[in-house]
Amino acid sequence: MATADQVKALVRSHAAGDESRFYSVALQVAARAARSGQSKFAQELRELIDEAKSAAGRPSRTARPVPVTQPRGELAGLLAVSYPDLRLSDLTVEPTVRERLERVLTEQHQAERLREHGFRPMHRLLLVGSPGTGKTMTAGVLAGELRLPLFLIRLEVLITKFMGETAAKLRMVFDAVEATRGVYLFDEVDALAGDRSSANDVGEIRRVLNSFLQFLDADDSASLIVAASNHPQLLDRAVFRRFDAVVEYPLPTREIAREVIKQRLSTLGTKGVVWKQIDEVTAGLSHAELTLACEHAAKEALLSGLDRVTTGMLVAALRGRRHAAGG
Ligand SMILES: Nc1ncnc2c1ncn2[C@@H]1O[C@H](COP(=O)(O)OP(=O)(O)O)[C@@H](O)[C@H]1O
Ligand SMILES: [Mg+2]
Repeated sequence: MATADQVKALVRSHAAGDESRFYSVALQVAARAARSGQSKFAQELRELIDEAKSAAGRPSRTARPVPVTQPRGELAGLLAVSYPDLRLSDLTVEPTVRERLERVLTEQHQAERLREHGFRPMHRLLLVGSPGTGKTMTAGVLAGELRLPLFLIRLEVLITKFMGETAAKLRMVFDAVEATRGVYLFDEVDALAGDRSSANDVGEIRRVLNSFLQFLDADDSASLIVAASNHPQLLDRAVFRRFDAVVEYPLPTREIAREVIKQRLSTLGTKGVVWKQIDEVTAGLSHAELTLACEHAAKEALLSGLDRVTTGMLVAALRGRRHAAGG
């Protein structure tokens, strides 16, 4: 049976809306039961958990867990916290990208062991590639898999809102990196590249870039620092050097595009879809555009009384995205 501590942990995680913690404690209860010979109960409990998890589907999109850590004071304006419930399996990417991310997760899971022997787990990642290929989402996946809070820092906002004091604000952010283990996402880090900003900002932006790089170098925290850029060509070579890994997110290949579509339409199913016709209209579309087209086609199908998407609907929706994307 469950120990008193486990029951308390269950109630606490339920109250906090921390679903993944709730299930993980429930699994511990099952494991304990199995060890003490109650294999039938353990088995039933595991099945219940599996069922409940899949029935909940994508809980993060409806019932968000209540944040446990909230940045306070001045930091509140700089960091937005969330607790994503994303998994690596939610991300449809090239095997090479998946392997890199799996490696990061493994090193994080085994961080203690690596540290004992004087090694540091990979913790500074630069994600580069076209818009809509899953870079921002990846930060959520890392947080979800490692059960860490995700802190979003949008540099563009930081720079425009705190003109003249951005470097000082950045120090506060890195103090938080040190104090609270989490995934810290510096999204659209190319805002620091300078080129895109008005001339009178350049001095300030240079200063911020330099302090960003210094903080990155000095970082010895247990947090993960993820920087993402849709415009890597704007980034200084000096930026690339500072990261433990640079991961490139290409536009989907034909096969990946099919996978994205199948995944997004998994509730309706894609039986009967003529993939050859789909292939003709997916080229050049990002994962995000494919996802939007699927959502559009699925709603179209449901609203017209069908219970699955026809090839024609999907082709039309994909064409629509191509127009929207200017392709
Ligand atoms: N590789 C991917 N696999 C599955 N869905 C994706 C992927 N890339 C993007 N998406 C979908 O598009 C949305 C936007 O992607 P995002 O991560 O913001 O792209 P980026 O940061 O690279 O511009 C995601 O929330 C997700 O719904
Ligand atoms: Mg993004």
